Amino acid sequence: MRTSRSSLRHRLTTLLTGAAALTALLVAAPAHAADPPLRDLADAKGKVIGTAVTGSKLTGTYGQIAGAEFNSLTPGNAMKWGSVEPTRGTFNWTEADQIVDFAEAHGQQVRGHTLVWHSQNPSWLTNGTWTSAQLSQLMNDHIALEVGRYKGRLAAWDVVNEPFNEDGTYRQTLWYNGLGADYIAQALTAARAADPSAKLYINDYNVEGVNAKSTALYNLVKSLKERGVPIDGVGLQAHLILGQVPSSLQQNIQRFADLGVDVAITELDIRMQLPATEAKLAQQRTDYEAVVKACVAVSRCTGATVWGFTDSDSWIPDTFPGQGAATPYDENYAPKPAYSGIATALGGTTTPPPTGACTATYSVTSQWNTGFTGQVRIACSGASLSSWRVNWTYGAGQQITQAWSATCAQTGAAVSCTNASWNGTVPNGGSVTFGFNANWSGSNPLPTVTLG
Ligand code: G3I
Repeated sequence: MRTSRSSLRHRLTTLLTGAAALTALLVAAPAHAADPPLRDLADAKGKVIGTAVTGSKLTGTYGQIAGAEFNSLTPGNAMKWGSVEPTRGTFNWTEADQIVDFAEAHGQQVRGHTLVWHSQNPSWLTNGTWTSAQLSQLMNDHIALEVGRYKGRLAAWDVVNEPFNEDGTYRQTLWYNGLGADYIAQALTAARAADPSAKLYINDYNVEGVNAKSTALYNLVKSLKERGVPIDGVGLQAHLILGQVPSSLQQNIQRFADLGVDVAITELDIRMQLPATEAKLAQQRTDYEAVVKACVAVSRCTGATVWGFTDSDSWIPDTFPGQGAATPYDENYAPKPAYSGIATALGGTTTPPPTGACTATYSVTSQWNTGFTGQVRIACSGASLSSWRVNWTYGAGQQITQAWSATCAQTGAAVSCTNASWNGTVPNGGSVTFGFNANWSGSNPLPTVTLG
């Protein structure tokens, strides 16, 4: 019997409304298989493109992106004094070691961060009462131990962090108050002794443009150089606000370079008032591109490190309520326009990456009381893949029991599926599909999938 189109549509509609959970949802993630990763673009220019990382997160998609896209890592917190010596004489190097090991396994540099700072120190240090001789000893010992531990393995150290106030006077800190401004020279000298091959930096924020604070830093570096104190570079943190890249950024980088030191953009992020809109993200792309371009334009600018590559791992929302979206990847690890801004500045494609060129579509094709069958379709248009991995996280305890046309592994809620030996290639204009059975109970919400 021939089924009429309208009765077919009716049956389909009934099926779908009768089981809303069966509704297929397209969640697309841009793939960049056709673009060189940022680290390849940076390598070709002899520049660093780095990211701050959290050691415990270096697995799954986070680890995959950190390893594939960046040629340098900075521990976001793991090497700070409070992290490594929470109790006097008791050391915890676990996360710092993990990051250095990961970097070495991925052919990446490490930027050590940070040795002498007023913040994130252990309470035994900040609450103690010390003579200047004791303080000096504590600082020198800390530097000797930490820099010595990673001797020969780190490209650079932020030896002194944030020594200035906004008006260019010295910040009143444990170190300045106890040792005077010369704590900076002492720290640099101790670091050089502990690892002669690491580049030694002073790092600060709001010193990206020419202003009172950056001029104080400039004068300090000039006098350290004149005195023969070991100083190799200045770090411009670059915690910036949308639309406010200082117009004198390149000029400022150049004046430090002219002093005979390297310059690194060390903690780049560009925050905005939430919610992010298309217009704000476009401005952010322009801003990221401008910052990285200013660095690329000056040969002594070694490169740029972003302070977390994903909005899910950024300090901004905690510190500036209502603001965020400051990094080049969104919370689901999809590259934002800012990613293209960085790529463009590094000499990559000047058109936006092929967003949506390859997409993964997750759908539930049938569902019964305890189980369901799902499928994922990977389709490419204007790009192609030679291998693929699709990741998602279940939100309601769903559990995969069997998969076909892909190898799927589930750890907790996290599912990761890779191509079978015969269907890794997805040509431009083509698609591949894989399927699975899974258990559910209560509800079966559709996950967001990412394609890597
Ligand atoms: O580790 C504890 C955890 O045990 C606890 O459950 C949790 C609860 O809040 O806090 C965790 O510590 C947090 C730590 O980051 C690790 O996530 C601290 O509260 C939080 O204050 C700390 O923030 C760090 C911040 O430095 C402190 O100033 C940020 O992650 C880190 O990105 C940020 O980095 C600094 C640079 O070192 C220097 N330049 C400025 C930059 C931004 O502040």
